[in-house]
Amino acid sequence: MTDTPPRISVAHKGTGARLHAPAAERNADAILDLLKTHAPTSGTALEIASGTGQHVTHFATHLPGLTWQPTEISDERRASITAWSTDAPEEAILPPLHLDATTPGWSAIHNGFALVLLVNLLHLISTEAARTLIAEAARALAPDGRFIVYGPFLRDGHATSDGDARFDAAIRADHPEAGYKNDADMLGWARDSGLDLIARTEMPANNLALVMVRSKDAS
Ligand SMILES: C[S@@+](CC[C@H](N)C(=O)[O-])C[C@H]1O[C@@H](n2cnc3c(N)ncnc32)[C@H](O)[C@@H]1O
Repeated sequence: MTDTPPRISVAHKGTGARLHAPAAERNADAILDLLKTHAPTSGTALEIASGTGQHVTHFATHLPGLTWQPTEISDERRASITAWSTDAPEEAILPPLHLDATTPGWSAIHNGFALVLLVNLLHLISTEAARTLIAEAARALAPDGRFIVYGPFLRDGHATSDGDARFDAAIRADHPEAGYKNDADMLGWARDSGLDLIARTEMPANNLALVMVRSKDAS
């Protein structure tokens, strides 16, 4: 999806080019705690769909061993990432790159990462696009690299709350091919891409975090 509807991905204008996403502000500390437990402590981390840049700035500030490579499909959001990045320690965040993470083949250019982080995108794209993204993320990892995914998922095919069911329906109303993915499907696609699950963590507001590692025998 290249035209994430504003009501699905809310970000308000702030100072200069900075955008503020209330959701990113709310979940930043919970995701940081997850990263403190499961992220590698050194190397380069690729963030897919960095959004406003609030997350990458927060993570780069509190996880000093990692260098961060933010990416985004939206020009406006890449400008926001650049603006937010000035709050992080110097050189902790590389200039944001344009990346459509659902395009086959991007890992041939961007690879060797200790960590690939994806927050709140899979529910906004089609199954086919999600499978491409997961396969490319797996190929973008260094041999012991980790892929961490956070977002809303169905559990055993069901929404976890009425609010989640409504949000899923609102997404499908705009983009019928998109919507919440089922947890077991996601793990099957990850296995097909050469990823092993090492942790599954229930997160605040019914979100789910999946921590995966590249299988030893992945090509
Ligand atoms: C719900 S926001 C999440 C942003 C950020 N990860 C966060 O949690 O604050 C979804 C983001 O995905 C970006 N996006 C949409 N389609 C994309 C694609 N095909 N490849 C990369 N980013 C995409 C949008 O521009 C938007 O910034």
